[in-house]
Amino acid sequence: MNKVTSSAPGKLMIVGEHAVVHGKPCIVTAVNQRLGATLELLDKPVLEVEAPEVDIHDYSRPLTEIGQGEMPKGTRFIEVVVKLFLQAYPQQQGLRVTTQSQFQSTFGFGSSSATVAALVVGLAKIYEVSLSEKELFDLGFKAILEIQGVGSGFDLAAAIYGGALYFVTPGKTIEPVETSFQLVVGYTGVKADTSTLVRMVNDKLAHNPEEINAIFEDIGKLVEEFRQALSAGDFATMGRLMNTNQEYLEKLGVSSPLLDSLIQAARQAGALGAKLSGAGGGDCMIALVESDKTAAVKEAISKAGGQIMEVEIGAHGAKIQ
Ligand code: PMV
Repeated sequence: MNKVTSSAPGKLMIVGEHAVVHGKPCIVTAVNQRLGATLELLDKPVLEVEAPEVDIHDYSRPLTEIGQGEMPKGTRFIEVVVKLFLQAYPQQQGLRVTTQSQFQSTFGFGSSSATVAALVVGLAKIYEVSLSEKELFDLGFKAILEIQGVGSGFDLAAAIYGGALYFVTPGKTIEPVETSFQLVVGYTGVKADTSTLVRMVNDKLAHNPEEINAIFEDIGKLVEEFRQALSAGDFATMGRLMNTNQEYLEKLGVSSPLLDSLIQAARQAGALGAKLSGAGGGDCMIALVESDKTAAVKEAISKAGGQIMEVEIGAHGAKIQ
């Protein structure tokens, strides 16, 4: 096979962000916005990249030099994933990678993790290396850590396995959970930088270990309760736990006035619960809703200045097209 096309989904954090970086579980879902990658074998030992959505055109680098030194932002993940794959499974032939994105990277749906997931699945297929989902995850997570330095890998797990997952870093537990619930997603219009927020929480932890560890502990317990409520179909409890999770995130200092007002608007319009989703500072909020309240919650979030993102949860994991 000389050419394969793969795709992987974006993600939304449901409960447990930040504490998951420090060993607690979280629940994440894949969403139906996907990142596609087409891989073609080349006779020459080079990596060529075409990634129009991040302004990369006609990029070419010898395989021996990829993934090191200065790299354009738009090729970093691709270069490092291909480098680590070829270190583990050496190959003669080079590669041309073309990406196609259905979602704008600014929305915080995890374009980097979807890129990594689509690539590892595509690489295993085109170079005919048989790898389990866990091996694909481990390889991809190594690349993400090499580039970002911090992160739990929850987003990559969602991109590789799909569905909704109970996740413990670094892939210690990855188990599917129900997706029988409805979310409304509101985007703040503010792009947040995940690494900066994770480091800010790390600093707080260093200065005030007792208080911050207690918050992580409480978030961990809340995630366990949420998982139980989810399998029992107890949406009222799930909503209440999302509200409590938001209080902990506020204590960690990662919410923002705009997130707070979108969350408040969703609750007042009848959402069972609402919270920020992801690192905080901006990006998205989510509201758990029953069908008859969906329209009112969407309207309230829009009126409060949020942009409604139409996404479906529980999307398929990374796959060859
Ligand atoms: O900002 P996002 O959607 O990538 O979510 C970050 C979630 C954190 O728990 C803060 C970081 C992580 O890697 O788990």
